[in-house]
Amino acid sequence: MSIPRGFIDELVQRADIEEVVGRYVPLTRKGANLWGLCPFHSEKTASFSVSPDKQIYYCFGCGKGGGVLSFLMEMEHLNFVEAVQQLADRLGVEVPEEEDGDREWRRRRERTLELNKKAARFYYEQLSQPQGAAVADYIAQRRISRKFALRFGLGAAPDAWDSLLRAMAGQGYEKAELIEAGLAVAGKNGGVYDKFRNRLMLPVIDLRGNVIGFTSRVMDNSAPKYLNTPETALFRKRSTLYGLNFAKATKRDSLLLVEGNIDVITLHQAGFDNAVATMGTALTEEHIHLLGRYTKQLVLCYDNDAAGLDATQRAIGLLKNTELSVRVLQLPRRRTEGGELVKQDADDFIKYQGAAAFETLLGGSADQTAYRLEVIQNKYDLTADDQRAAFLQETATMLAGLDSPVEREIYGNRAATAAGLSGETMAQEVEKARRSQGRRARRQEERRAMTPADSFQPSQRQLRYQNVRSARAEEGIIRLLLLDSGLFPQAEELQEDEFSSPFLSKLFRLLKERWQAGEAVAIPALSADLSTEEMSRLVQLAQAPETGQQKEKALADYIERVRSEAAKQRSSGYDRLLAVREQKRKKTMEDDVL
Ligand code: GTP
Ligand code: MN
Repeated sequence: MSIPRGFIDELVQRADIEEVVGRYVPLTRKGANLWGLCPFHSEKTASFSVSPDKQIYYCFGCGKGGGVLSFLMEMEHLNFVEAVQQLADRLGVEVPEEEDGDREWRRRRERTLELNKKAARFYYEQLSQPQGAAVADYIAQRRISRKFALRFGLGAAPDAWDSLLRAMAGQGYEKAELIEAGLAVAGKNGGVYDKFRNRLMLPVIDLRGNVIGFTSRVMDNSAPKYLNTPETALFRKRSTLYGLNFAKATKRDSLLLVEGNIDVITLHQAGFDNAVATMGTALTEEHIHLLGRYTKQLVLCYDNDAAGLDATQRAIGLLKNTELSVRVLQLPRRRTEGGELVKQDADDFIKYQGAAAFETLLGGSADQTAYRLEVIQNKYDLTADDQRAAFLQETATMLAGLDSPVEREIYGNRAATAAGLSGETMAQEVEKARRSQGRRARRQEERRAMTPADSFQPSQRQLRYQNVRSARAEEGIIRLLLLDSGLFPQAEELQEDEFSSPFLSKLFRLLKERWQAGEAVAIPALSADLSTEEMSRLVQLAQAPETGQQKEKALADYIERVRSEAAKQRSSGYDRLLAVREQKRKKTMEDDVL
């Protein structure tokens, strides 16, 4: 296949599975996923799910799953190349055909980075020109100093249709290159114009110092308030954290996650050089892994409105089983001169209350248990008896999930005091909840142990496992590596021929190659190398929950098991016997078919 892999990766990253699937299947959001009626089998209740975070779909009814390309292949009965072509058409990009595609691709990438850098310089230079004066004023009005405006590379997009296009043409860039970089847009009548006009420009800089894209803000109340570079392989919102290029060097012991890009700048200016923000999107697992590389402690500081609270809860849910410890900094509402209580973000808080007050809030930010307690507490009126009982129940259920007895006691006492109950009562209730949670977990474990190994087998016949014990561990390895590619060094020495399943061995090889080449290690990117059946199985195995234990430990256990199983097979000649049996089985299968 001569389509360069880099191009396919970019295409997949640029596409939005929610949008593509949504054209065929009405979807409704429930939690982190979207649900709808499966287009591949007939059903009355929705078991077809789409994860915008992971960019995959999976049907719990028929087991079909994959990324955006697999979806188009299945839905439109296309082969792989046709699906790539169709997706590229939809996104308005051309499929490159060069023999030496990958090198060509890399060259274009370098050139786009260079173009972004030149554009950022152009925008910056406009600030000191008449056509940039409005933005320069706006920067001053936002109380961003010259020093910090420069540090974050702020600039001005003039109020004109083609100032960037003309400036870049002068430096040898084609219109098509600006379109590809997301800096210009092709209009309906063939005209091409600057994407960013009359806006404050904020370059987004990655950890290597490359300008990978831009975000920008209007200066009045028009919409959209913020406008970003579209999603490309260079500019991936799911894994980009604004400000991390500076925050990674902070001397503070935490990273501070805020909602807005401008918050990040004003926080850095006020001495909180540990602030970062997502690109206006929800926190993803990719963000979390990235954060985990630089800190052990994350402080969430979202806006104190309903959306911010909701985002905080979601983030806590995602962060629960990670090694990052989480605290929540809750900003108080602000009373205006008219006496009205209004929401404020970190930027407002610093403007009105000052950096010292923010430092105090940061120091006193609640750990996540305290925060969760507070959230429960706010739901109930603790002066009413029936509500206190309900509060006791809900608190006990939450506390029962804590592993440390000391924490259970401390927070139990705190909650009891708040409700005017004795610590003893709370402790009893927590114990009761623990016992019932323990029973439930045991029952689940038993059920799992009782199910015959066969139910673990892939439903796709050609993928069946010969050594289920080893295959379970092999699946675990694949799952963990997909979850956190930071684990690769730990699995690097494992050889693909130590795997018992040819399918899982192939997956391991593909993922490892991608990781070593610095390419995306994600499910949708594998469409090029896997059949639709293999994709479905991959998505299915990635759905299984990982056990609560530490990822490194879990991975070590899996590797250990794969190796000991491989050794066993080598010494017993077991594999030869099985191979013979397998051949026989294949033969009868073929006979069946013919
Ligand atoms: P200011 O009004 O400049 O202080 O911004 P803010 O950060 O207080 O604004 P807000 O809380 O509205 O937005 C927080 C973040 O959400 C922004 O930094 C953006 O990343 C994102 N965001 C807000 N509005 C838009 C929008 O219209 N489009 C996009 N793509 N993102 C937005
Ligand atoms: Mn703001």
